[in-house]
Amino acid sequence: MNAPTLQGLPIQAPAYVKNARLIAWVADMVALCKPARIHWCDGSQQEYDTLCQQLVDAGTFKRLNPAKRANSYLACSDPSDVARVEGRTYICSEKQEDAGPTNNWMAPNEMRATLQPLFDGCMAGRTMYVVPFSMGPLGSPIAQIGVELSDSAYVAVNMKLMTRMGRAVYDVIGTDGSFVPCMHTVGVPLAVGEKDRTSWPCNETKYIVHYPETREIWSYGSGYGGNALLGKKCLALRIASTMGRDEGWLAEHMLILGVENPQGKKYHVAAAFPSACGKTNFSMLVPPAGFEGWKVTTIGDDIAWIKPQADGSLRAINPEAGYFGVAPGTNMQTNPNCMLSLNRDVIFTNVALTDDGDVWWEGLEKDTGSLPAHLIDWKGQDWTPAIARETGAKAAHPNARFTTAATNNPALDAAWDDPAGVVIDAMIFGGRRSTTVPLVTEARDWQEGVYMAATMGSETTAAAVGQQGVVRRDPFAMLPFAGYNMSDYFQHWLNMGKKLQAAGATLPRIYCVNWFRKGADGKFVWPGYGENMRVLKWMLDRIEGKAQGQQTAFGIAPQYGEINWQGLDFSQAQFNTVTDIDDAAWGEELKLHDAHFDKLAHHLPPQLLATRAALQQRLGV
Ligand code: OXD
Ligand code: MN
Repeated sequence: MNAPTLQGLPIQAPAYVKNARLIAWVADMVALCKPARIHWCDGSQQEYDTLCQQLVDAGTFKRLNPAKRANSYLACSDPSDVARVEGRTYICSEKQEDAGPTNNWMAPNEMRATLQPLFDGCMAGRTMYVVPFSMGPLGSPIAQIGVELSDSAYVAVNMKLMTRMGRAVYDVIGTDGSFVPCMHTVGVPLAVGEKDRTSWPCNETKYIVHYPETREIWSYGSGYGGNALLGKKCLALRIASTMGRDEGWLAEHMLILGVENPQGKKYHVAAAFPSACGKTNFSMLVPPAGFEGWKVTTIGDDIAWIKPQADGSLRAINPEAGYFGVAPGTNMQTNPNCMLSLNRDVIFTNVALTDDGDVWWEGLEKDTGSLPAHLIDWKGQDWTPAIARETGAKAAHPNARFTTAATNNPALDAAWDDPAGVVIDAMIFGGRRSTTVPLVTEARDWQEGVYMAATMGSETTAAAVGQQGVVRRDPFAMLPFAGYNMSDYFQHWLNMGKKLQAAGATLPRIYCVNWFRKGADGKFVWPGYGENMRVLKWMLDRIEGKAQGQQTAFGIAPQYGEINWQGLDFSQAQFNTVTDIDDAAWGEELKLHDAHFDKLAHHLPPQLLATRAALQQRLGV
């Protein structure tokens, strides 16, 4: 044991922890946060089981009926702590312009002065968990190490499922390897002898803070999801995107899937969609009728780290090792592979509890044909179909989640854990638009692809913003996740493409998709889910030179006859409804692009304005 002591509390790093900077940092953070105990996580199953039992004893977890859902738990959060808090998320770069207009900013010194008193003594009476994790396969040249210090056992067990967490990480950082320090507290210190008054302690005050220059994360007040599991959005997107800018790679809000044709030829596709656009479903897609012999496999469902290689290829890893997915809406029809991933060893958060000790969420009635007669909802209240009809109460919170290891996924790709990653052949960018944006188009070149990604958007729902149908631009699906100025991020993409092309590389094709066009009756026209395979195959046909497509103002679109329609009744008229480019609507759309670019004017790459001008000329508007 290395045993420096601090204010009487032995730091007690296990002998296998040899990284001097890590030990010194833990000692400093112990001095600041003043926990009652330190637990150095080793990532073992035994540790996981013990911590889960502690959470059961504390009332945070309910153990589910093992006959229904083996080794699985339900946690219900405080109703005030149910989602990422974008309004409380900060990029504290030295200069405000480096955070850019899309991020909250505070000067680092000012933020440190704000956080210091909040963190001082914040873990009193609690255990500080030292959670070492690798984002990416252990030892991969694309991976990064993080260490999270948290006073939440819920965080420690979720991190075990979501990352490669445990002892082996210390071998990777050795005596002097680098890691991203991630501080997390729920912000509820306990006086001597005081017990938690709730099963989900959290603080009304919340800060999710990133210091990109020093690569640090400080999170205060929330125990939920991306606010607290700091490997995910904070490290793997916000901090990693700045690493990528500085080092010449990409950290993206993208799933990665493998798609193999019946002849055994395999491609890898990365796809960016804003939150709540069916990313997990697409990453686990089951090919429909008409695609016998095709296989789709998952490498990742949310994040991709993509690095250029000496041979000009772009290789990608999924930095995560598990899925923290939205439960409501998931069922055997929308995502059978996901449902099969949830049979055992799952942590559910904010779903409902059935009378026989299982879980339930809205959407599962599609599988069973009826609603359950009685549930305990995520707030601990009785729920019946009659109550739901009267009050509109949801049994599960709309952002209720499951946490499950990737290894639970029956469609997991054989290379998901390959340290070398997989070569990306195509990239997809998709928003949620009921009009205007066609089902699929291929960018004519990298620059047009960057334009498509930079201008993508999603319509808000009434529930989210109070004004239905307003388009929220979400460039590259990175609006809440870019760790630096969005326009500099566009430039980074353009620079990467230029550099690779100059070196003679064949760049991945870029596609823009929209599964969400509606007809005159207000209903979705495209069936989506597994049927998206038809669009995916057209992309591969384009790559293989088998589909000619047709030029449109906004890229190259499929001709009706180029899509495999076997097994689906989808008429030319329906196809026209989802692919049509309406010049007048595009005239309006261009005005929205202008407003978007006006907001991002500082450092906006001139290439994007040139692409916009060419688009306008093609449209003739
Ligand atoms: C997520 C998100 O949870 O994008 O993945 O919000
Ligand atoms: Mn996401």
